[in-house]
Amino acid sequence: MLSTGSGLAQSDQKSEAATRSASSGFPNGFLWGTATSAYQIEGAVNEDGRGPSIWDRFAHTPGTISDHSNGDTATDHYHRYKEDVQLMKALGTKAYRLSIAWPRVFPEGAGVPNPKGLDFYNRLLDELLANGIAPFVTLYHWDLPQALQDRVGGWTSRDTSKAFADYAAYVVQHLGDRVTQFFTINECSRHVHLGHGLGYDAPGLKLSPSGINQVRHHVALGHGLAVQAIRAHGRAGTKVGPAENAVSCIPAIETAANIRAAEMATRELNAGYLTVMLEGKYTDAYLAQTGKDAPKFTDEDLRIISSPIDFVGLNVYTPDHYILAADNERGFALAPFPASFPHMKAGWLRPGPEAMYWVPRHVARLWNVKSIYITENGTSGTDQAAADGTIYDVDRIMYLRNYLTQLQRATSEGVPVLGYFLWSLMDNFEWPDGYEQRFGLYHVDFDTKRRTPKLSASFYRETIARNAVA
Ligand code: NOJ
Repeated sequence: MLSTGSGLAQSDQKSEAATRSASSGFPNGFLWGTATSAYQIEGAVNEDGRGPSIWDRFAHTPGTISDHSNGDTATDHYHRYKEDVQLMKALGTKAYRLSIAWPRVFPEGAGVPNPKGLDFYNRLLDELLANGIAPFVTLYHWDLPQALQDRVGGWTSRDTSKAFADYAAYVVQHLGDRVTQFFTINECSRHVHLGHGLGYDAPGLKLSPSGINQVRHHVALGHGLAVQAIRAHGRAGTKVGPAENAVSCIPAIETAANIRAAEMATRELNAGYLTVMLEGKYTDAYLAQTGKDAPKFTDEDLRIISSPIDFVGLNVYTPDHYILAADNERGFALAPFPASFPHMKAGWLRPGPEAMYWVPRHVARLWNVKSIYITENGTSGTDQAAADGTIYDVDRIMYLRNYLTQLQRATSEGVPVLGYFLWSLMDNFEWPDGYEQRFGLYHVDFDTKRRTPKLSASFYRETIARNAVA
């Protein structure tokens, strides 16, 4: 289906591949995959008993989505999942990170489950496994059942953390015969900050500092309770961890002092998420900084939040900060981004490929983490078709090549990254940016729902085939 576009004869290709994988290859068994999430691709929001989520409500609220769109039909993956599994297969991927829509499984958020909603995932899992693709399931990619928002105030209440654990238990009991790898919550930090602080994402809240800090705590608690539920109900060998967009801290210059400072910054700037999950306490600096607005919590909460996990998932995009060692109390200083710093199509997407080396390395060293997955990485682009109909997205290829080169640097030094999930398999609903930011390897025509590979799909297929950056 895809053409390699390399122009090399096959034998030349083989010898070039052999040379490259010796010098720049990934470890044997490195897992290559793609990632998506339910609300961004499924559509079929009113089918088979699905209840509304906070994203349905939010997207249908005037003024929230830049192109006035919503996820009602999205890519229609709900009906086209078989075709989409073939797209994954054509790339040579052996893993797929999908998310389950909580409101399909529990339309009211809790209580009576909806077997028809779960059936969609039964069909999808069977199709993936029949095609040799391992499912990695995210339990929560921001689509909270609206009923929970209305009934208890969503994540402002710890009842939602408990409901999340019940839902996780139900999913692992019913799908755990075919899924052994679970991510609890996708990007706690964006969900809290943009959804509950800035009102830019669903549920569109603009809480006070103390309100936001409490939501952050409840989300972390939900993660810990879900880890425990999966341990209690999953079969032997089931693995679980978070999928977090850690604040990424890059040493501005690779000196020992700056590297140490970047490590300290990583610990402090992720205090509400990875640090508390992996250390079981909020750092002194976090508590001092939040002061009277600090979250209310118990020691038992901290024990739950830090329930042992099997891996850390990291979504890596923009470097958040370049770090310098400093003679201040914190021991580090953030170098501000100059106005001339480049960006991809989305203004927030500043390319910082070194993040792909430093973030997993910091996580492995700071917390002695032995298994890491890159749960997302990718970029949007303008993706215009040329006269011959091909989308020559060499900007995406440039971006991916640079990040993957840094990932290879990490794995070759022994940083324990086991796999990489490219965001995204296909163009989809990019939250408040609607369909204006395209992240896919496959272009989607949102009128006809037709999928067409971009040149980057060939790049990724070639990289996977070589197990080395193409
Ligand atoms: C992070 C989110 O997890 C995903 O849903 C989103 O589409 C990508 N980043 C790109 O913004």
